[in-house]
Amino acid sequence: MNYLIGIDIGTSGTKTVLFDEKGSVVSHARIEYPMAQPQNGWAEQNPADWWHAVVDTLKDVVNQSGISAEQIRGIGLSGQMHGLVMLDEQDQVIRPAIIWCDQRTAQECEEITAKIGAARLIEITANPALTGFTASKILWVRNHEPENYERCRKILLPKDYIRLMLTGEYATEVSDASGMQLLDIGGRCWSDEVLGKLGIDKSLLAPVYESPEISGQISVSAAALTGLHAGTPVVGGAGDNAAAAVGTGVVQDGQAFTTIGSSGVVYAHTSKMHIDPGGRVHTFCCAVPGCWHVMGVTQGAGLSLSWFRDQFCQSEVESAAIMNVSPYYLMDEEAAKVPIGSNRLLFLPYLMGERTPHLDPDCRGVFFGLSAMHQKRDLIRAVMEGVSFSLRDCLEVISGMDTPIQIMRACGGGASPLWRQMLADIYNCEVSTIVSQEGPALGAALIAGAGTGVYRDIREACSIAVQTRDESSPTEKRHLEYDAYYQLYRALYPSLKDHYKTLSKL
Ligand code: XUL
Repeated sequence: MNYLIGIDIGTSGTKTVLFDEKGSVVSHARIEYPMAQPQNGWAEQNPADWWHAVVDTLKDVVNQSGISAEQIRGIGLSGQMHGLVMLDEQDQVIRPAIIWCDQRTAQECEEITAKIGAARLIEITANPALTGFTASKILWVRNHEPENYERCRKILLPKDYIRLMLTGEYATEVSDASGMQLLDIGGRCWSDEVLGKLGIDKSLLAPVYESPEISGQISVSAAALTGLHAGTPVVGGAGDNAAAAVGTGVVQDGQAFTTIGSSGVVYAHTSKMHIDPGGRVHTFCCAVPGCWHVMGVTQGAGLSLSWFRDQFCQSEVESAAIMNVSPYYLMDEEAAKVPIGSNRLLFLPYLMGERTPHLDPDCRGVFFGLSAMHQKRDLIRAVMEGVSFSLRDCLEVISGMDTPIQIMRACGGGASPLWRQMLADIYNCEVSTIVSQEGPALGAALIAGAGTGVYRDIREACSIAVQTRDESSPTEKRHLEYDAYYQLYRALYPSLKDHYKTLSKL
């Protein structure tokens, strides 16, 4: 039997999972870390926290597995996209990583658009200038911390920093590099034109691989720290969403999935490159060589519910600890007692600004319709419904492009039965889930298997290791009930748009 490891360096924590070649979990471990918000709309993390979490979870999975580390054929990395890790001459981290949900770079986005031209930028990078993407973060450091920019010798994405620590190699791969806004998405290589116009030296960036290609081997020092075998291959891997696509078997035209992690994503595979000229959804290279995906992102999906849990659900957190269940399980039970529409309460999940479809770093969250009759459970359900409405916004944009969707799957928190049924009713389509709960970690491991010859390619890996289960079907009655609330939800952002700008300047 062959074994594979997938490591997912997420926003709330790192999950490391050891699988057998059939996709069954042999051992797994997860460690959480904080996100700092030094100012409203800023978000930073310490790369050392990721590294310690990777080392400790690797040690755990190898120890618990009962297999010898030599039987591990390959390792795949996945992780939060877009984050900026800057390294000096000695590969020391220069400043905390500015991560994907940070919104400080509105001015730098204007600078990028002015230098490249809005239409040309979309032609090359398939996206308009976005505050979440890495290019604007690089310019922010150059504009505001020139001494840090001067010292910078390498720029890496979060999972690629971990690769450096594990293998000593600078490398990235096409799916994650797509989110830097420096890649030519059609050509799957760095864009000399974008780099030249922005004045960013190409030597700051790492070589770009396809996801299954081997990018390095576990070094002797990393082997000593983790219990891995020195020389174990590490493949390119993928950004968290492209990895989740592999872990949910979304690797052919017509297949799509919804995930509710910290962000929420609607993702559709496409073998032809389609770009939304309005730039409301992203087109990125995917982990299947030669293919792309179209993806809408809502910034605060699971993040909205975890914010609500942390601020208002202390009693659920305590009861859950006694019952040995997740606090979300108890929150789900409460939300299930509330009718559709949360007793006339709507939530806009814009806690960290919004991407699809508004592209607005200044908008913020709203409870609309609060009444003295509302209880905590109404607010929990309103948060879940608001996130689902924002995911329907993503689906509406994708459905208007030339990427017909025949199959919709769900992974992440979205696989909870209540949330999945909500998505099925709001989308008005069947939503199935996957036997494995491991999404991006499974995807990363399967990519490693495809790159090291355990499988012929990624599609074969999925056909062996990914099985669907539990289909949620919509009813027309529920769809229409949700639809009335969705129409009102859609009307709220345009009426608040200008007020958000005013608020951001107070
Ligand atoms: C995708 C995105 C998020 C992050 C964090 O564009 O910003 O999904 O990768 O999960």
